[in-house]
Amino acid sequence: MSKLKHIEINIWKACNSKCIFCMSRNVPNIMKKLAEIGYVKTRIKYYAEKWYNSIWFLWWDISIHPNIVEIIKTSKKNWFDKINIITNSIRFSDYDFAKKVVEAGTSRINISIHSHIHKIEDELTSIKWWLKKKLKAIDNLNQLYQKWFLQSPLSINIVINNINFQTIVKTVVYYFKVKNIKDIRLNFISLDHTIKINEDKITLKYSDFLPYFKRIIYFSLKYNIRITFDSIPPCIFFIIDKKNGEKLVKKFLWEQFDKIDQIEHVNVKDEKETFKWKDKKKNKLKTKRKQCHHCYYNNSCEWIRKDYERLYWLKEFIPISLNIKTKI
Ligand SMILES: C[S@@+](CC[C@H](N)C(=O)[O-])C[C@H]1O[C@@H](n2cnc3c(N)ncnc32)[C@H](O)[C@@H]1O
Repeated sequence: MSKLKHIEINIWKACNSKCIFCMSRNVPNIMKKLAEIGYVKTRIKYYAEKWYNSIWFLWWDISIHPNIVEIIKTSKKNWFDKINIITNSIRFSDYDFAKKVVEAGTSRINISIHSHIHKIEDELTSIKWWLKKKLKAIDNLNQLYQKWFLQSPLSINIVINNINFQTIVKTVVYYFKVKNIKDIRLNFISLDHTIKINEDKITLKYSDFLPYFKRIIYFSLKYNIRITFDSIPPCIFFIIDKKNGEKLVKKFLWEQFDKIDQIEHVNVKDEKETFKWKDKKKNKLKTKRKQCHHCYYNNSCEWIRKDYERLYWLKEFIPISLNIKTKI
């Protein structure tokens, strides 16, 4: 397949969940009006003409857009090879809805789910009994994959935070063994001012997560499950296994180092909000220790959210020296 050129498209700032850790949670109502289908189509065509071939509907929740099927079909008609959705999945608990969206041309679906324990999922999403629906959505989409409608196997995204980290190993085991998920993304909680109100409840230190991190890594290696991590700097992998740190970084952070074109992010309603995540993270949102400049991973590391520095300290991060001159 040709090299992928990604675009992330926003349908505007509306979601049917209220996750307490979500950085997109606190937006004024005026911004929650969904983009009109005509305009969304124009944007899809615009990026197709610029040779983008991978489209992600990642922010807010595309599943609540009344024209979701038409949006996916338009992407397909415009020759996007990869059409990915990240969703809280509630609407996919309805089999007919799931089938329509998948048949329209969706190639990959990621479900955001943060525990296998009802109490924890309820607390994190602020909605009671959603886990039941999410589990049904998983069954529906697994079925559609088995019937060859969905191109890629189902994957899940978990946000690691202070409420779920002590049970997270069991959560990973549950979704692998009971729900047959072999592609799991673990996003270490990112902090910023938008979730300050819940900060005490949800923030987590890397050092507290380490014992669980280690067990997840070895579980993934033992059963050959694809597990990737976001927002965990390379040096943390060296703390859990200094000798094999480099191999672990390659295996578990590979997406970060994959030399794909940078992802461009666009809010369909406001082109001024178009940006590249990688640049925004480094220029605006993140920071690093002075010593990090000497680290082997100086260029590829995505650094640490500024709020992490405010809440904790940066001493956890130790520059890696691999006796190789070129930094990556
Ligand atoms: C913002 S959500 C939007 C898509 C959709 N509504 C959903 O629930 O998946 C996209 C991804 O970002 C993750 N996410 C949200 N807030 C986060 C945070 N503070 N730290 C790390 N990941 C976060 C979500 O779990 C999800 O996997």
